[in-house]
Amino acid sequence: MSIEFRNVSLSYAAAEGKVEALRGLSWEVETGGFAAVMGHTGSGKSTLLRLLCALVKPDSGQILIDGKDIHSSLPRRELRKEMGFVFQFPEYQLFETTVLKEVCFGMKNLGFPKAKMEENSKWAIEKMGFDFEAVKGVSPFALSGGQRRRVAIASVLASRPKILLLDEPTSGLDPAERRIFCGILKSLNREGTTIIMVSHNSEVVCETAEALLVLKDGEKWKEGKVKDLFSSDLSPAGILPPPALALSSFLQKRGLDLPCQVKDEDFIASLKEAARRRKDG
Ligand SMILES: Nc1ncnc2c1ncn2[C@@H]1O[C@H](COP(=O)(O)OP(=O)(O)OP(=O)(O)O)[C@@H](O)[C@H]1O
Ligand SMILES: [Mg+2]
Repeated sequence: MSIEFRNVSLSYAAAEGKVEALRGLSWEVETGGFAAVMGHTGSGKSTLLRLLCALVKPDSGQILIDGKDIHSSLPRRELRKEMGFVFQFPEYQLFETTVLKEVCFGMKNLGFPKAKMEENSKWAIEKMGFDFEAVKGVSPFALSGGQRRRVAIASVLASRPKILLLDEPTSGLDPAERRIFCGILKSLNREGTTIIMVSHNSEVVCETAEALLVLKDGEKWKEGKVKDLFSSDLSPAGILPPPALALSSFLQKRGLDLPCQVKDEDFIASLKEAARRRKDG
C-alpha cells in the first residue's frame, strides 16, 4: 500500500507552550517499499509514525494511504487491519500467560475467526524465528529480552498488516539478535509488506532499507535512496556512516581501488575483488 504525507504539520501543547513537532512534511513511500526515518532526538520521527496510524491528528495537511485520507475516507477499523505498529520496547507491553495467547491477542480484538487465528499465529511465531510447538505454551516472561521483543512483533505480524511501522526496533538488541532481526524484516518486505522503520542505527538502516527520510527540527532535511544519502555528510542530523562505509571510504582515500559500500557483505565482496586484482596484477 502506498503512503503519502501532504504538507503535514503537528504541534503538541506543552507546559512551556506549543512544540512544533512536524512542519510541512511532504513525503511518499511506494507500495512494497522499505523506508527508514532518521534524525536527531526530538526531530519528529515517532510523531510521524503516530500520525500515520492515526494516534494523533495533523493540525494541517493530509495523510493518504492508497490515495485515501486516513481521517476522512478510511474507517479506523480498516486502518487498524492494514497497519501494524511496533512501538519502541514493545516487550514491555507483554502481559499474557503464554506466547500463543499473546500472539492471538490483537487478532481476537480485530474479530479474526478461530481457524485464521491458528494459521496466522503459527505463521507469525515461525516468521520471528521460533519453533512453534516448542514455544507456544511458554510464558513470555521466561524468554530473553530479545526473544520477548520477537514475540511482541509476532503479535503485530499475526494480523498480517500490509504496512508495518517500527519505532527503533533494534535498540538494545545484541549484534546476533540484530542480524536475525534485519533478515526477518527484509524477508517480510520481499513478501510484499510496506515497511517504515525509525532508527538511529546506520548499520541497520543500510542493511535493510532502500529509501531514507532524514528529519531535522521537525522538517524534512533530506530524502532519497539510502546509498545516495549516505554518500553525503549526514552528521549535521546526528547520523554517522555505518562501519562498512567508514572503512571503505577510508581505504579508498588511502589509494585502494575500491568502491564505497554501505553494507557489510558488499564491502567484503569488494575487498575480496580488490585483493584478487592485486594478486593477478
Ligand atoms: N505528547 C507530547 N507532548 C508534548 N510534546 C511532545 C509530545 N510528544 C513529543 N513531543 C515533542 O515533539 C518533538 C518531537 O518528538 P518525537 O517523539 O516525535 O521525536 P523523535 O524524533 O521520535 O525523538 P527520539 O529519537 O528521542 O525518539 C519533541 O520536541 C518532543 O519533545
Ligand atoms: Mg522517538
